[in-house]
Amino acid sequence: MEIIIQSNPQTATHVAAQIIARQIRNYPSTVLGLATGSTPLMLYQTLIEMNLDWSEVKTFNLDEYIGLPFEHPQSYHHFMWENLFRHINIREQNVHIPDGNAEDISQICQQYEQLIKAAGGIDIQLLGIGSNGHVGFNEPTSSLASRTRIKTLTQQTCHDNARFFGNENDVPRHVITMGIGTIMEAREVLMLAFGTNKAQAVVDAVEGPVSAMNPASILQMHPVAKVCLDESAASFLEKSEYYRWVYDNKPAWQEI
Ligand code: PGA
Repeated sequence: MEIIIQSNPQTATHVAAQIIARQIRNYPSTVLGLATGSTPLMLYQTLIEMNLDWSEVKTFNLDEYIGLPFEHPQSYHHFMWENLFRHINIREQNVHIPDGNAEDISQICQQYEQLIKAAGGIDIQLLGIGSNGHVGFNEPTSSLASRTRIKTLTQQTCHDNARFFGNENDVPRHVITMGIGTIMEAREVLMLAFGTNKAQAVVDAVEGPVSAMNPASILQMHPVAKVCLDESAASFLEKSEYYRWVYDNKPAWQEI
């Protein structure tokens, strides 16, 4: 894992934006895996301001709530169009978000996997991390080999996401999420985490044992996993001096 510690969320976001922008410039028909939540918001804003050409880019979102209409302000369809897609020149047919209103959820999940394969697989998968270590909505104890499927959220995640809904009881209990096996097939993963409430999940993911108790810890097994952190999210890391040393001594030819 490549751990990139920056002084604040702005500079950590800047690093992540450079990685994604370079990918889109070098490979215009790139396939991106996208995330929602508060963490990637600044990244999406930065990417919008970079005026990149998204006309050939394909995207696959990690997850969606089950049963929220697309136009619901907290649906991830709504989130993505409001915060990114309507501001860039992406083609609607190139955008993929699991359909949480489908009649046959398991069929939609299988179809999602096929669509990712048909697109040639994901080049860079963007990830946030839950305070319990979830990636996508793969909650602790999720199978590390799981594929896109229905999951039940933990009470912790409902509590964490209540801030978006106003009331914890309004947070849907069920979601569709890419599986951990699906995420691990991306050619590169880029995880972002900011703030002290992520510090424990981050240290468990980066320096703890690989365990379904912290699904993000599987990224230790990924050949190209980059983790962009602010100081607070990095504050529990035992080897933070080493990560900074590596970053500061990167050979010029080796890009981030
Ligand atoms: P957040 O959520 O970005 O809103 O903190 C991250 C996650 O739950 O994966």
